[in-house]
Amino acid sequence: MEKIVIAIDGFSGCGKSTTARAVSHLLNYIYIDTGAMYRAVTLYFLQHYINLTNPKQVEKALQEIEIEFARGEDRQEGQIFLNGIDVSSRIRDMEVSEKVSEVSALAPVREKMVALQRKIGKKKGVVMDGRDIGTVVFPNAELKVFMTAALEIRAARRQAELLDRGQLVDLADILTNLQKRDHLDTTREIGPLKQAEDAHLIDTTHLTFAEQVEEILNLATSAMVGTDHQQKTILGLKE
Ligand code: DC
Repeated sequence: MEKIVIAIDGFSGCGKSTTARAVSHLLNYIYIDTGAMYRAVTLYFLQHYINLTNPKQVEKALQEIEIEFARGEDRQEGQIFLNGIDVSSRIRDMEVSEKVSEVSALAPVREKMVALQRKIGKKKGVVMDGRDIGTVVFPNAELKVFMTAALEIRAARRQAELLDRGQLVDLADILTNLQKRDHLDTTREIGPLKQAEDAHLIDTTHLTFAEQVEEILNLATSAMVGTDHQQKTILGLKE
């Protein structure tokens, strides 16, 4: 079957990453967590005390940044490397979460990340999750999904995720952080978080993980069949 691009956008903490990863495994597709890319840039900016209001400093820092995802046998899936160093765990720290929306609102940061994302997804067979994948990065993606969930549920999930990594963070702090990021992500000028007109809305508040995965897989199968049908029609072949 034709390989497609699956774009999954939505709010923080509604299960995008875990669902997208599971879907990519089942389809044998590449999975790209674009939030992790913006987090890696943010980590670099924090480590180097980059002044976000100084365009020259920002440009210079961006030139020094190289981001790679895990590939090859000796690396685990889901790992992200910043200039060759595994930062997969560090980028989830609250310090990074606090700053990432501000950093990801900067035009040069978005330009660099969007270009990299398009390069990675060029050959299709990719599940990419983020905020602007269906609207900006791949506006022609064969399948677009927009995920959402109640704020309290998202905060509880994020808290459990942090606890899993040995960090106990107050629920109120997580709630405030999510609210702040929702606001910044939806109101920024470039690539704001919004549902693409042709995206399928999935509210995960009352869905189990398995249900979320199944729903997207069903949509993906329909999109693939649709693509095959289109190809055959264009080529004048009979079904
Ligand atoms: O998915 P996440 O919570 O790890 O994303 C972290 C931040 O990165 C999020 O608050 C906004 C930003 N982001 C973005 O601006 N565009 C994307 N495609 C993905 C994430």
